[in-house]
Amino acid sequence: MRTLVFFGATGNLFTRKILPALATFSEEQEFTVVALGRRFKDNASYRAFVAQLLPRPSPLLERLTYVQGDLENPGELALKISPLLGDGPLYFYLATLPSLYRDALHCIEALAQGRNPKDLFVALEKPFGRDERDFLALEESLRNVFPEEHIFYVDHYLGKGTVQNLVVLKAENFFIERLLSREFVQEVHIGVFEEEGVGERGVFYEETGAIKDIFQNHLLQLFTLLAVDIPPLCAEDQKECARFFFQLSRERARLLSQVRLPESHEVQLGQYAGYREEVRHPSSLRETFFFFPLFLDTERWRGVPFYVASGKKTAQKRSFIEVLFHSVVTPPNRLIIEIQPEERIDLVVSVRKPQRELESTPVTLNFTYSGAFQASTPEAYEKILHDFLHHDRTLFPDSSFIQEAWRLTDRLLENLKTHPPAFCRYREGMLTPEILFREKRIPDEMCLG
Ligand SMILES: NC(=O)c1ccc[n+]([C@@H]2O[C@H](COP(=O)([O-])OP(=O)(O)OC[C@H]3O[C@@H](n4cnc5c(N)ncnc54)[C@H](OP(=O)(O)O)[C@@H]3O)[C@@H](O)[C@H]2O)c1
Repeated sequence: MRTLVFFGATGNLFTRKILPALATFSEEQEFTVVALGRRFKDNASYRAFVAQLLPRPSPLLERLTYVQGDLENPGELALKISPLLGDGPLYFYLATLPSLYRDALHCIEALAQGRNPKDLFVALEKPFGRDERDFLALEESLRNVFPEEHIFYVDHYLGKGTVQNLVVLKAENFFIERLLSREFVQEVHIGVFEEEGVGERGVFYEETGAIKDIFQNHLLQLFTLLAVDIPPLCAEDQKECARFFFQLSRERARLLSQVRLPESHEVQLGQYAGYREEVRHPSSLRETFFFFPLFLDTERWRGVPFYVASGKKTAQKRSFIEVLFHSVVTPPNRLIIEIQPEERIDLVVSVRKPQRELESTPVTLNFTYSGAFQASTPEAYEKILHDFLHHDRTLFPDSSFIQEAWRLTDRLLENLKTHPPAFCRYREGMLTPEILFREKRIPDEMCLG
């Protein structure tokens, strides 16, 4: 029987995303779960907590065993967990603070002793380390315990249906692939906007900031998927597909080495007005917002700005890619790939207004997953857990991509340290993607003093 061991089983990610996906799986698959956390004293109180989070009774509850323990004492924690593990394969999942990964690995090392490495698997959440050096050290520690192909780096954006669809959209629609080049594209906008602030994740966020939290992973995933030359799509053959995704990942990593980073005057960083109070750090300059262009030094994209942005406490929650084409009309023709909250693709074209000779107006040709397939795509974490338990690595970023993404992010942060960019403390709930990408900055009236 497989055993899944979750570090951080009382946290935000586990309770909101992983738990519902686990409950779905427990209806069709056999496994037991060891859940680790600090805040509950015993199994009964943890199970009661989980029960009220699940929308309906689930076989999962019976299979959960909670262990209370602090990772400051990894050896002690390992002693508590060890008797709960069967002889079957072990799947460790690090859904805890990245600063605790090293302690978690000490605990895992103790649990792995005497076991066959082919039965040991690990998944871990981003950010993977704090910089390139730290990532390489983390990877080395992981490789001391796990075979390379048993390490699963999770970027849940890659589990989203629309993000995967970007690959098919380009590979199987020749005209779209052809349109995505400097010949036709004026500029690209990629945004990850959130209504929420940092909430209880203040300590984590003070260490991390938006550039490491969003740009280094989700945003660079979207950017490279849009910009990469996609190899011919694989058939339904799993081996061939694994090769396809491997090649795609290498191509995307190579693309990152061809990025021209922005000058500091092209960058704007920001922090939402209530942030300092929330994290109890009255002079914090930690960014909760960034905006800047990236350029690619390739034949296909030379000269096309990819404006990337992310912000917390904006007017709406929205993640998307918007491609603006060279156009004779205003606003220009656009291809919009919405990732959340709704998974949708829009193509904005001009048509004649009724009864108005040749006067034109923009209209949207539209596709939604829910409309086209009468069902929403499975939640990203269902896909992630499924692939982890089936050892399917195709949708997990590989280490060469992560390393290249860190190299780029480290260079960017170093440049911004030497030449600090504009910084705006912005009013909450006002900034929209439309305003930002039109003005190419947060307007002055939204910034405090
Ligand atoms: N939240 C999200 O939506 C989201 C999305 C994508 C990725 N992630 C990633 O997922 C990871 C976890 O994020 P989160 O938002 O879930 O964080 P969180 O809500 O702060 O949860 C942290 C978890 O770690 C446990 N923990 C903290 N200190 C510990 C210690 N010394 N010993 C043992 N356990 C300890 C906490 O236990 P107690 O609370 O019981 O003390 C809790 O279960 C991070 O890497 C984050 O970047 C999160």
